[in-house]
Amino acid sequence: MRTAAPTQVHVPMNDLALQHATIASEIEEVIRETVQNCSFILGPATAAFEQAYASFCGVDHCVGVSNGTDALTLALKCLDLKPGDEVITTPHTFGATAEAIGHLGARIVFADVEEDYLTLDPARVQEKVTDRTRVIMPVHIYGHPADMDPLKEIAQASGAALIEDAAQAQGARYKGEVVGSLGRAGCFSFYPGKNLGAYGDAGGITTSDEAMATRMRSLRNHGQIAGGPKFSYAELGFNHRMDGLQGAVLGVKLPHLDGWNARRREIAQRYEEGLASVDGLRLPSVASWATPVYHLYVVRCDNRDGLAAALKARQIDTAVQYPMPLHATPAFHDCGAAMGDLPVTEKACEEIISLPIFPELEDDRVDLVIEAVRDFFGA
Ligand SMILES: Cc1ncc(COP(=O)(O)O)c(C=O)c1O
Repeated sequence: MRTAAPTQVHVPMNDLALQHATIASEIEEVIRETVQNCSFILGPATAAFEQAYASFCGVDHCVGVSNGTDALTLALKCLDLKPGDEVITTPHTFGATAEAIGHLGARIVFADVEEDYLTLDPARVQEKVTDRTRVIMPVHIYGHPADMDPLKEIAQASGAALIEDAAQAQGARYKGEVVGSLGRAGCFSFYPGKNLGAYGDAGGITTSDEAMATRMRSLRNHGQIAGGPKFSYAELGFNHRMDGLQGAVLGVKLPHLDGWNARRREIAQRYEEGLASVDGLRLPSVASWATPVYHLYVVRCDNRDGLAAALKARQIDTAVQYPMPLHATPAFHDCGAAMGDLPVTEKACEEIISLPIFPELEDDRVDLVIEAVRDFFGA
């Protein structure tokens, strides 16, 4: 009689149900309360979360909005960009970063990323500055902060505003300062799979600029001044308000964020110890300025499709974030960058592959991933 092969364990990229199970009773209580109060749009739970998140980031204000894309749109809208104004950003990001710029009629200018951290390279940004540069928008990609001090210097010298796309980096620190507090405004996505995720779409903008916060509160609500007369519109606004239920969920989850991020760093350390010696595999580097939060754990190698297939055969999920630089995709063809112009990004897009990382991922699952990767490389 043949013995059955041991059942292989599935290792997913994320498992939101596991996280929900750890906070289910608290979540159910705040959902019940919000439903009983019928505070479905903004409301007290969202206001409480906004205050808590502002204080977590070390800024005066957080404006809760409908998603991370709308956070970027409102922050940029407050800068009154005109057609022809230029916003310098990275081509190595989720499309929303550049999409928000494009929708406001500004010109998207891509600058290449740093080889080691894949964040906006200040030297490449400097080369792209012109007298039309109005905004510099770094992305703290994968939860690793961009090098903000030199970017701040370039922004100051050129009279541009520095706006952080911190969608992937809730709780990450640059030289000890929490991201979202480093520029004129920080834009966050609370999409469910983010390090701090809602139970639907949600986003937020952090700032210590009081006038900007006031204007964003009005813009998210059709241009009506908060606390002012209803149905009187100071300017053309949007419906970009945060749902009350999302504010309530985020309020429950925020106190757990530092612990969840610490567990992500522990997993990253375990990968580092298990994989550092593997020839042909490049692990993520951490800059001297960074306390990253590993929204993603992204490694690089020549044959990433082969690695993905080998891991899939052992029930281990992987992903590629992102397989194409933005300037290679149709929506951004007219941004003035052709393939070959941004070589660090272009090469990285061919080599990167994300391994599973999320706070509830247990050590024995991490070890299964390490073993499978080592086997693939014959290490
Ligand atoms: C870097 C970055 N910017 C912006 C966004 C947009 O956020 P949302 O999906 O909440 O609109 C995301 C979401 O994935 C992102 O990763």
